[in-house]
Formats: sequence, C-alpha cells, structure tokens
Amino acid sequence: MSISKSANPHIVLALDSANEVIALGLGALAPDDRSISCLVSECIPAHRASNTQLLPRIDALLSQQGIERSDIACVVCGRGPGSFTGVRICIATAKGIASALEVPLLGVSTLDAVAWNLQQAGLRGDALVVADAMRKEVYPVRFALDDAGIERLGVDTVVKADAQAAVLGASDTLIIAGDALVKYRALFSDCGIIADEALWMPQGSGLLLAAQAGWRIGHLNPFDARRHDPALLLPVYTRLSDAEENERMRLSQTEPRDLRTGVQHTGVDVDAACGIVYRPLDAAHAAQVAFLEEQLMGSDAWNEHLVLDDLGRKDRTWWAAFEAATDELVGYAGGWVVDGQLQILKVACIPVQRRRGVARMLLAHLASDARDLGAHEATLEVRASNTGAQALYAALDFKDIGARPHYYSDREDARIMTGPLPLAARDVAGMNLIVDQAAEQVTPDGPACAPADRSARPLILAIESSCDETAAAIIDGDGTILADTVASQIDFHTRFGGVVPEIASRKHIEAICGVTQVCLENAAVRANVPQLRWRDLDAVAVTYAPGLVGALVVGVAFAKAAAWGADIPFIVVNHLEGHLYANKIAQPDIAPPMVVSLVSGGHTMLVHVRDWGDYRVLGSTIDDAVGEAFDKVAKALGLGYPGGPLISKLAEQGDPKAIAFPRAMMHSGDLRFSLSGLKTAVITYINQQREAGAELDLPDIAASFEAAVIDVQVSKACTALDQIGAKEFCLGGGVAANPALRAAYEHACRKRGVRLTMPPASACTDNASMIALVALDRFARNLFAGLDADAQAHVDLEQPY
Ligand code: KG4
Ligand code: ZN
Repeated sequence: MSISKSANPHIVLALDSANEVIALGLGALAPDDRSISCLVSECIPAHRASNTQLLPRIDALLSQQGIERSDIACVVCGRGPGSFTGVRICIATAKGIASALEVPLLGVSTLDAVAWNLQQAGLRGDALVVADAMRKEVYPVRFALDDAGIERLGVDTVVKADAQAAVLGASDTLIIAGDALVKYRALFSDCGIIADEALWMPQGSGLLLAAQAGWRIGHLNPFDARRHDPALLLPVYTRLSDAEENERMRLSQTEPRDLRTGVQHTGVDVDAACGIVYRPLDAAHAAQVAFLEEQLMGSDAWNEHLVLDDLGRKDRTWWAAFEAATDELVGYAGGWVVDGQLQILKVACIPVQRRRGVARMLLAHLASDARDLGAHEATLEVRASNTGAQALYAALDFKDIGARPHYYSDREDARIMTGPLPLAARDVAGMNLIVDQAAEQVTPDGPACAPADRSARPLILAIESSCDETAAAIIDGDGTILADTVASQIDFHTRFGGVVPEIASRKHIEAICGVTQVCLENAAVRANVPQLRWRDLDAVAVTYAPGLVGALVVGVAFAKAAAWGADIPFIVVNHLEGHLYANKIAQPDIAPPMVVSLVSGGHTMLVHVRDWGDYRVLGSTIDDAVGEAFDKVAKALGLGYPGGPLISKLAEQGDPKAIAFPRAMMHSGDLRFSLSGLKTAVITYINQQREAGAELDLPDIAASFEAAVIDVQVSKACTALDQIGAKEFCLGGGVAANPALRAAYEHACRKRGVRLTMPPASACTDNASMIALVALDRFARNLFAGLDADAQAHVDLEQPY
C-alpha cells in the first residue's frame, strides 16, 4: 500500500487558494541549472469551495499528466495575503502533502505570482498588485517589471482601499492587477491602466516562476528539506486577529491605569509547571518594566517613556511574565517587526526566576505575533559574554552571524544572531504540549516483542482540531493507543474570556505539523521501531464536524492531503461520536445497547447507543449547553475561562445546599434540558448580593450551582436508563471531567445495578485518541471519505455518514 520513492523526483507541484480561485501548476525541475519548465498551469474559480476542490484537482492534474506522487520533488505554496481561510486551506493542504511525501515545502507570495503573470504577458514598467483584504481594505504591493523578471518594491501591508487609491493619484502608465479589482475597479481606474481581467488572479505558472526566482537568488532551495520543513511555512496575515488588535489598543492606553486583560487571571492561564502567567504587556506595567530595566540592563536600560512609546506602535509586540501567586512582574520581552524580520529588542527575566523557561515562553509569544505580522525571521543582539542566552538562542536554531563591536554602552561587543520563525520546526507556537495522557504508560525498556508483532494493523493516525486543541493520536489494530499528543491553545484564549475562532484557526495551522510529528515519533518509541513515517500508516482520520468551521478546515485539509500524499485511505469522524467512543479508553469491552450522557461546551444530550454507529438522541438542551453554563457563571463571578474546572474546584469547599437554585425541567416528563434559566438565576443572585453590599460566598455559589446541574442531569439519565432498559451507562464531553458529577453517577448507577463507564478525566475534554477509536471501527467497515470531504459546523449525530 505504501508508495516508494521515485528514482528521479523532479516535479514541482504549485498550489494557491488565497483568492476565490484555485491556482495549480506542475513544473519539471532541471537539477543542473535549477530552472523549471512549466508543464501545466491552471486557474479554476472556486468561490469559497477550495477545500472541496483543491485536492481532487491536484489529483486529476497529476493523472492527466501521467505523473506519480512519488515524482514530486518539492511543493510550492502561495502564502497569501488573501482570504485568511483560503490561505489556510492551501497551506494546510500543502503541509499535508509535503509532510507525507517528505519533500521540501516552499512558500511564495500570492502577489508575486500575479506580478509574474503580468511579466509573462509582456507587460513592462511599474505595476501594482492589489488583493482584497475585506473590511474595505486591500493588500497592495508595487513591482517593477522588465525583460529579466519582476522586482518587488515593498513589503506586504494592509491599507484602506480608498486611502491606497488616494496615495497613488492619477497615472496613465501604472499597470494594476489583483483580485481587489473585482470590487474596486472603479476606484482604481484613474490610478493607472487596469490589466486584462485574465491577469488578476494567480496562475500555476506565476507560482512556479516566483519559486524559481526565489531559488535563483538563494532565498529558496528546492532540495533543502531541513530549511523548508513543512512545519515552518505559515500564512501571510499582515495583521493580528481583530480580538488581539483591539486588546493591544486598550492595553497601550495609559488611562485608566489599572487595566487587566479581559478577565481576572485565576491560575488557568498559568504555565502549569512553573506558576507563571503570560500576558501582553500593558501600559500600567511600563513603570515596572523601566524599574527592572534599570536593575538588569544598567546604562542600556529603557525608561518608562520609551517603553510606553513603543507599546503604542502597531509593528511592535510586547509580552510580560507574572508570578501567578503574587502577580509580580518577573520578565518581559519586546520585538519590532520590520521588513519581514522580528528584531528582538528586549528579553529579560529577574535572576530568581531564571531557568524556568520564562525567556523561552516570552520569545514564543513574540514569535507568534511576529509571524502574524509578516515576519519570517528573527534577529537580535546579545552580549558576547552572555553565553547562557546564546545557548538558549542556539537551541532555537539561531545562528551567530557576526559581531557588533562595542555595541553596549560599556563597550562590550554584541553577537548578532538570526533564526527562523517559527523558532524551531517543533515549535507549537507557545502552546502547551501534553503528551501521552491517554496512551498507556511506556515501560522504561520498551515493549519486549518485535515491532511488527507488536503493532497490529491497521495503524491509524487521527487528528482533532474542532475547537481550541490541536491533537493527534495513533491507534493500532488492537485498539491500543500508541501515542496521544495535544497542543492546548488555552493560554491564547483565556484573556478573551472564551475561544476566539480566528486565533484558534491560526494556532492550528502553526501547530499541526509539530503535533503530528511528535505523535509519530512517540508511537515509534512505543512500537519499538526506529521511525514511523506517514507512509507506514494504513489510514489518516480527522474530525470533520461539528465545531468551529475555521478550525475544523485546517485539520481536514491537512489530514486529507497527508492521506493522499501517503496514498492511504482517509477517514472522517463526527466529534460527538468521538466523545462516545472515549469510554472505550476506560473500558474496552463496553457494548451497546447503552445510554450515554454527552455534556460539553457545545452539547448536552442523552444518547441511546443501539449499536456502534447507530444512535438515537433521546433528548438534548433547548438552550445553553452544560459546559456553556459553567463558563458563563464563571465569567459572571469574574473567575476566568474555561469555567468548568474553576467552578468545580471552588465547589469542593462550598455547601451545595446553601442556595436553592432552580432545577429546570426536572419534572418535564421528557429528556430535554434547559440551562439558561439556571444561569440567569445565578447571575441574578450575584447581582442582588452585590447590590445589598453582601460579600459573595464563591464556594457556596459554585457548589449550589453545580448541585442544581447535577440533580437534573442524573435524574434524567436515570429516566433514560429506565426507558431503554440498558445495563450500560457512559459519560462523555468536557463536563464529564467534573468530580461531583462523576460521584453522583457512581452512586446512582450502583443503586440501579447499571455498569458505569467514564473516560479518564484527560480523555473527557477534546483529544484525538477518541477520534482514533472511531476511525478504527470505520476502517473495519470500509467507511472512507473522498478527497472532496469538507468541514461542517453542524451535523446530526443520528445521521449515518
Ligand atoms: O468537550 P470539550 O473539551 O469541548 C467541547 O467539545 O465543547 O468541553 C469543554 C467544556 C467547557 O465548557 C468546560 O468548562 C467544561 O467542558 N469543563 C468542565 C470541567 N472541565 C471542563 N465543566 C465542569 N467541570 C469540570 N471539571
Ligand atoms: Zn468536545
């Protein structure tokens, strides 16, 4: 089933879906002079359907040309700028193909590709390529076109369309192209000559020429797999997400003085191992930074005014580290994004906090912002004597490229170091990587038997990216989870009081290669083989629904492309079915018929599992989900996000009978739920207490709220068990991690003689092991998905797929 490498891979595959089109190209690479001859070039209208069309088109194009996947020597991908989702679909697809084929992935600018079209069409002179950036904005770049090629005259930026037209003024020589003309043709028509409409969109040939130009000047190298590790390629955004932009604006204001980032921190956004919280630096802490500067940097210290001035600038990024317990500022870092480079201005940590990874985390945050702002490289100066810092940078792949003599005010030399962004191929963008919680513990000397015996077929890698967790797991034919990896983005959402969809999508694209790579490596250790590669797998699976569609598409595009690259079947999985299957981790022999309660941030339902794959929803919530209610109550109490774990922790100290909150629909006679009334009752109670000037008893409120939820949940579950007559009851979803709920079910099931199964707490929240378990069953039943599979926000659990 696995494909073997061609003796002579020489084909360049180019793809772009940054606009409303899919541009594809195939070129033949001449190894001696590295020139590419374009074999075929396409530009197909896609209208937001690139995820369904991109891979089928690539597959068809190769077949038409009689080219094998194994002939592909490298993949070239347009990085935008353009539609965020379009760019991500393209890059996720390219990453999947390049990872599975183990070939370099090279990024080129979508705008450069358009400029090359103009040059190839014989146009000469000044040109402007303008891409649509939505929100009445455009991405404009100027080029000079001559017989030799194109010269880019500026970096990627985003500006208002009318402001750009005003800056250009009137000209009758400037050649104008780009997809923004679809909307703004009239606006730009006085600014120059509008190119023929056929030249507005990128073409496969333009992408190939842009790549060829890149390696002629040494920028790209089609044979350098290390430099062009698929993990390293990221979209061109030129701006942070809206949520982050607004936050920066607030934080850089000096008034009011005591600004907190959205929610009170409570320890959830704490780097678990270290008790350190990371937040964007705000103006209220500028004086403290200046104070530390004076202590740590001596005569090179920045004063408060300098820090404040820098904070307010759009091309800067500043992060701060705080001791969670005391909220004391313990470190900070600042960077400036200029001409595609992140110049690291400051990285500092107080001496007693050193060696706790603070500098590395601060750098990860700077790097993540810098990438979003268009940087692909980082540079910094470090004291020649500071070998500790140099070692840290070297570990992040920074190279020493020379000295700046007498750079510091005490005349000490600086070493100049530069490194790639992301900081390392393994970088998961500052996300917390949790490894092998669901997989069985590996014994120190590894399994005794040989790998082939050990790992029963099929071997399936599953990916989960429906919300704010990028996860991968590998399962074998016996149902053993060989590896389970989760990169949690929670640190990036907590400050906003909930999951920010745009940030979630960005983090998935940054983490997906690192997470799957770590997963493959850990599974290899577990299976006692030197290496496990994509082509050694028997299938790739992915969550396709339900969830945040912009987050799901990244996983779907990547997984589908990796399956195609490895020439193995592709499987899609319903996330909710995954939560049902998570129970197999605790009890492999559970068998239908059974009743399962699914309680998560997005769902609350009782399900009759008639057989695996055959589900009937007995009842679900008519308004909020249980997890949502926990999150909203936590927010009203100023606790932070996600609320579930915080409330359950507080509730341990409280009296569940202290406040009589309503048990909605407890006696409705059906199996539906309603949570919004309870949520309102809790919020009303909080407000009344506050108005009366009474101190809030947080533990009592938490415990009483939790008890109200649990009473209804357990009572309805018991009714369902009676109705179905099932002897198995299971739980699933994030709220199933709640200890009080688990205890209540233990009690109720024991009383009724029903066997209770609950996933381990780590497998209640989103993970890929549960997706892998479903995938194994679907593999056995030959339920494979096509290359046109796409993500879906909503899907009916009862509907077979
Ligand atoms: O299943 P999940 O990770 O994501 C969704 O598919 O929604 O569930 C997340 C939800 C959040 O609302 C979170 O507050 C809740 O699960 N949760 C909890 C607990 N741990 C997580 N709710 C109550 N008690 C907990 N210990
Ligand atoms: Zn979930």
